[in-house]
Amino acid sequence: MPRLLLTGANGFVGKILTVRLQQAGFHVTALSGNSTPVDSLADEHLIGDIRDANAMAHAVAQAKPDYVVHLAAISHVPTSFKDPLLTWQTNVMGSMNLLEAIKLHAPQAFVLFPSSSEVYGAAFKSANSVDENTTPQPLNPYAASKVAAESAFREYFRQGVKGVIARPFNHIGAQQSADFVTASFARQIALIEAGKQAPILKVGNLDAVRDFLDVQDVCSAYIELLKLADKPGHPSCLNIASGHSRKIREVLDLLLSLSSTKIEVELDPERLRPSDIPVAVGNATLLRETTGWQPQIPLQDTLRELLDYWREQARHAS
Ligand code: GDD
Repeated sequence: MPRLLLTGANGFVGKILTVRLQQAGFHVTALSGNSTPVDSLADEHLIGDIRDANAMAHAVAQAKPDYVVHLAAISHVPTSFKDPLLTWQTNVMGSMNLLEAIKLHAPQAFVLFPSSSEVYGAAFKSANSVDENTTPQPLNPYAASKVAAESAFREYFRQGVKGVIARPFNHIGAQQSADFVTASFARQIALIEAGKQAPILKVGNLDAVRDFLDVQDVCSAYIELLKLADKPGHPSCLNIASGHSRKIREVLDLLLSLSSTKIEVELDPERLRPSDIPVAVGNATLLRETTGWQPQIPLQDTLRELLDYWREQARHAS
């Protein structure tokens, strides 16, 4: 059974990906940061902060991976504005620590690095949907740190480490933190329905346009990308996108249409960002042609499941 080391295993994507990887036949060693309790279903668990080079060397030596998926990151754009140092230390130096450890202790491993579509930034303004040849022009510390981390991965690829970079667009689903837009809206609707929040739903920029995917579809793409380990000459960087543009206002209306409660929508200036990408839509032709991947789950189904998840959470909320 191939051995796989998963960093960020205790996060939103990490927990779901753990199960999907096991179903795909991997033995999963979950690496989680010191501060998070381990509640993943992985085969083995390791604790270690990716900002700690020694801890990373130890983790990779112990896990003896054939594959690595590096999810651990600060991924919330507003947090990256508030704490750029933490963002760069985690996303860039964390990646460096992992890459050094792989080079030393698992030089044959194949590494998947989920970067982000956020790297395109200002380039979104001049294209209908961006492909991998578009030059990144990051607009926030998170995106800039992902560009820097990509650069670190490319340098290690040049030195012989094997792997691939993915640029996933917005992926959503049950269990995502309410720091992110669809989870935030669904949580508020559920709390209002349960009588635990006044019937006013707070929002940020509703005019932004995003390319949404169900987290399960993104996990399917990651599993397809791991198969590139056996395909020399594969592309080094691939978008994961639906190709469909959705205004945040439209997504809010879809969620509100799933509820019969009367809810007022109110702009919360705290939710506006120093800079926000107005339109982000991706072209995933390369991924489709390379792996055959296609998204399977309609947005309406994802939103329904998301709202049901938050309704269940709201029942237990005080
Ligand atoms: N979070 C949040 N909360 N965003 C809101 C809100 C709100 O109440 N109201 C409107 N928005 C808008 C944001 O301004 C942004 O334009 C859009 O909704 C999506 O915000 P997020 O869900 O926070 O995601 P993101 O687009 O900034 O970044 C996400 O996608 C990237 C991939 O494209 C994150 O998941 C990143 O980690 C990921 O790399």
